[in-house]
Amino acid sequence: PRYFAVVPAAGVGKRMAADRPKQYLPLLGRALIEHTLERLCAFSPIDKVVVALAPEDPYQAGVKALNHPRVMRCAGGAERCHSVSRALEALTGVAAEHDWVLVHDLARPCVRAEDLQRLLDQLQGHPVGGLLGVPVRDTMKRTAANGQVVATVERSQLWHAYTPQMFRYGLLRDALSATLARGELVTDEAAAIEAAGLQPLMVEGAADNIKVTRPEDLALAEFYIARQAAGES
Ligand code: CTP
Ligand code: MG
Repeated sequence: PRYFAVVPAAGVGKRMAADRPKQYLPLLGRALIEHTLERLCAFSPIDKVVVALAPEDPYQAGVKALNHPRVMRCAGGAERCHSVSRALEALTGVAAEHDWVLVHDLARPCVRAEDLQRLLDQLQGHPVGGLLGVPVRDTMKRTAANGQVVATVERSQLWHAYTPQMFRYGLLRDALSATLARGELVTDEAAAIEAAGLQPLMVEGAADNIKVTRPEDLALAEFYIARQAAGES
């Protein structure tokens, strides 16, 4: 099978509260989007990288990585799941049913080639697919609406869901369109696959593959990228 990447990049970055969508904020002197797309384009098993962008956004004109020969653009949608769905549609006639699609948040610029490779290795021959994740570190509590603690949740089986999330093209397209048809807005691809009654495999990834979400995450992403470049971990 072949491999394709789908990159939802059409968000507005509300929680970042910056003057522009967070994908265009500088990270070590280059826009965040350049870092993420370069890493995906540099990973040779991936044939095409489909980037879902907000059609009206004026910032994409200056993004060098969008001109990479493996990059295809499409229009994003109102929510992340709509953007992913449109990018999957853009692969109609390009990807075969059993090809793999790696969906990766543009807002995760620290993703490592080793993590991409581990996902491919662990899911080789898998009928469905899976996702990168990181085990939860803190003690987890469940509360009632009034804030009162109801229970301590067993932590050993809890994970943070990261990306890429890698699924068979046909399964993911059908699972996602079924959730959208029911009016459900899934926040990751695995949720759509689970709703279809299928079981994604969790693959442990590096903890520094964070999603840049709040202002303080920019400095943290810069720290991680610099540390990766220095080969320190
Ligand atoms: N995304 C998208 N289309 C949307 C919303 C989000 O393609 N309609 C993308 C974002 O660009 C991002 C990824 O989905 O790469 C993860 O979403 P998130 O971190 O929530 O980004 P934003 O939605 O931009 O941020 P916020 O929720 O703070 O507004
Ligand atoms: Mg969002």
